[in-house]
Amino acid sequence: MGDAGMKNQVITVSPMSAYTGAEISGVDLTKPLSDQARSEIRQAINEWGAVFFREQELTPAQQLAFARQFGTTEEDTHVSNMTGVDGLPDVKEVVREADEVRNIGGFWHMDQSFYDLPSCFSVLYARELPPNGGDTMFSHLSAAYDALSTALEKLSGVHVRAHADSAAINAAASGLSFEYYVESRKRFGGIEATHPIVAMHPESGRKVLYFSPVYTDRFDGWTRDESLPLMKYLTGILGKPEHTCRFRWQEGSMAMWDNRAVVHYALDDYTGHRRLMHRVTVNGPWLEPCPKTT
Ligand code: OGA
Ligand code: MN
Repeated sequence: MGDAGMKNQVITVSPMSAYTGAEISGVDLTKPLSDQARSEIRQAINEWGAVFFREQELTPAQQLAFARQFGTTEEDTHVSNMTGVDGLPDVKEVVREADEVRNIGGFWHMDQSFYDLPSCFSVLYARELPPNGGDTMFSHLSAAYDALSTALEKLSGVHVRAHADSAAINAAASGLSFEYYVESRKRFGGIEATHPIVAMHPESGRKVLYFSPVYTDRFDGWTRDESLPLMKYLTGILGKPEHTCRFRWQEGSMAMWDNRAVVHYALDDYTGHRRLMHRVTVNGPWLEPCPKTT
């Protein structure tokens, strides 16, 4: 890892840690990207899993236009409980009100892993932030894979949508009612998907541990009780501090991460303050099975 690869001509890439995250400067995201700038951003994402831009002043339409330079957007192909911003269903509000105790994404996860074909990139823009707290952490799934002493390539994981709510309810002082959980289960209960636990990133060629301590319910063909001990072990590997970076948002900050390469975690530490983010997700080629080694 490190600064291997082509030298950038347009953007400046400043890595944030050994494996994960880089800040990018030298681009104005309100304007269409040159092919060179776009390919350098892609390259940085392939290397660091998540990239961050600062001091960008974007309307929701400009955020959407930026995202669409990397692929088609969700266009409501997925059932979602997130609202779109006026007239733009693909720009979702990720919001927590000052009097709310529910935190979206307050656990290690990749977006939409409970769909057969999740979106590849998430593009998240900060609109309103708490005075402090509300950072987001990222952890590289290739670093997790590299830390494993055994290849888990024969296993698949079943990812279950409803676990997001059950995690929120179990969180200390969540304030969510059991009725909320029941209602949400009715709506999203059936949504689940099976993915290989170890897969290959189609662009970087790196192997990843595609596992979430919350969304992954069990290994395919195993009972949940059989799965729990090994899942607990994988949970200890995933999100190891050395594999992570932590992004401190400012107004005008934008993050773009690759759900095939990193998990993320929205820190739940700003109770009493409003936080508003806009999210666009981008489609692309999904993870591939690992090439057979024998
Ligand atoms: C998301 C998410 C993290 C955050 O939008 O998918 O997990 O910090 N957000 O808001
Ligand atoms: Mn998320």
